[in-house]
Amino acid sequence: MHIPRLVGRVVILFCLSQILVLFVLRTLSAAQERSSAASTHSKMALRRAHRFPDAAEKPIANWSGPVFSLSQDYPVWKPVAESQPWKKYDFSKEDEWKDYLASVLHYCVEGNVETDWVLQKNTVRRWYHAPWMHWGPSGREFIHGLTHERGSRPKELAPTQVSVFQNWAVGMYNAPGGWVIGKVWKDADHPDPNAFKGFPDGTVSIKLLFTEADTTEVPYLVGSKEWDAYIYDKIENPINPNGVRKVKKMRLVQVDIAVRDSRNDAITGWVFGTFTYNGALKGGSPYEKLVPIGIMWGNDPDASSPGDPLKQAFINSSPDVPKQHLGWNGRLNGPVDNPMSSCLSCHSTSEWPVNAGTTPGQGAQPGTPEWMKWFRNIKSGEAFAPGSKSLDYSLQLASGIQSFNQWNDMIMSLGGAFNGTPAPPNAGLKLLQKASPSRENYPVTRDPEM
Ligand code: HEC
Repeated sequence: MHIPRLVGRVVILFCLSQILVLFVLRTLSAAQERSSAASTHSKMALRRAHRFPDAAEKPIANWSGPVFSLSQDYPVWKPVAESQPWKKYDFSKEDEWKDYLASVLHYCVEGNVETDWVLQKNTVRRWYHAPWMHWGPSGREFIHGLTHERGSRPKELAPTQVSVFQNWAVGMYNAPGGWVIGKVWKDADHPDPNAFKGFPDGTVSIKLLFTEADTTEVPYLVGSKEWDAYIYDKIENPINPNGVRKVKKMRLVQVDIAVRDSRNDAITGWVFGTFTYNGALKGGSPYEKLVPIGIMWGNDPDASSPGDPLKQAFINSSPDVPKQHLGWNGRLNGPVDNPMSSCLSCHSTSEWPVNAGTTPGQGAQPGTPEWMKWFRNIKSGEAFAPGSKSLDYSLQLASGIQSFNQWNDMIMSLGGAFNGTPAPPNAGLKLLQKASPSRENYPVTRDPEM
């Protein structure tokens, strides 16, 4: 064989093999890059999914019970519209409103009962918690993420009640609601109230309210759903943020729901309803013993005197509802709620900056134009006070943004109790109480007094 030709072939073969090796190596490294990008992406997704603290404090020593985890993997895209079974019913018809509420309640408990409201484990549909409600003396406790609600004064829960009781609650939104929360909190360091123009039709929120009262004073609580919660040992007025905390048994007393229903756009855009637990009723699980107290889709702005009829609400007149109290002039409210208010009244104040208290201003006389500002029909997306941005009836968005700003206004190291690096106990709160509020004047609360 001709030697130089052989050498030429070898050289060509060598070059070809080198090209092949290079190609294989590049393909491999590209694949590796892709997989490492994927893992970085999933790490980022994970980080993104847990940007907000879960609770005000870390679990106490030797705690072996459940620990709350904030469901915060908010949808990035607008969720595809789900079927809304409640749309079969007209909320404003006397013979349909109870079916409307029952259908919403069924939707809310589906998949959540099985997991005891660990939203991340729901296999039917996703639900989300609002961030920044861990902050302050009423912030989320570590067991179930409950926030401190208005305390119940004697006789409010039942005629036999003599003590004042603490109530604690946790609320959540379905995917359309979670999508909006995610938009507002897209940048965890700069919540943006302007990021949305109202919640989309089909948004649903449910809130479970638990009381420390038991059957001794509130007999209808017999057999109710019980949860442990890390709450104050003693109720103090005003709340003492340094008060001793204890794990106590709580009982489900009230279940609130709010539905963004575009059929009501001309009035408020929302339908609010509430249930109370009644252990005297027949039924298997505690959820079957929830009886609707009523429904409201408007604030009845014309009903300004006692006895004026309500045209934008129904109140259940059945004896299945235990003896409790309603809101102002018979408007809808739950047993735990402020009797001078109503669901839609209080929620209509949701805005940023918070330029109005949640209940009629001090000094305003019932029924006067000033008082009736709290009983207007404010449309979805319209603010309560001029110059503020509407947060569309979501007080969880309002209270979260408010807490974030209060924290932000303080020295960060004294503030938020982030997972893993808890703040010194209530150090920030002491400062907060001394500091003059810089951006807003009204606390977002179910009870301005307690
Ligand atoms: C005086 C004020 C007040 C009244 C009355 C009131 N709420 Fe609320 N509600 C709040 C506050 C404050 C929050 C946010 C903090 C929280 O969840 O604890 C809230 C949260 C909620 C949530 C969670 C979603 C959201 O909008 O933030 C639902 C659902 C809800 N309330 C329904 C109701 C229903 C139904 C009624 C009437 C039966 C009612 N509320 C009466 C103050 C009130």
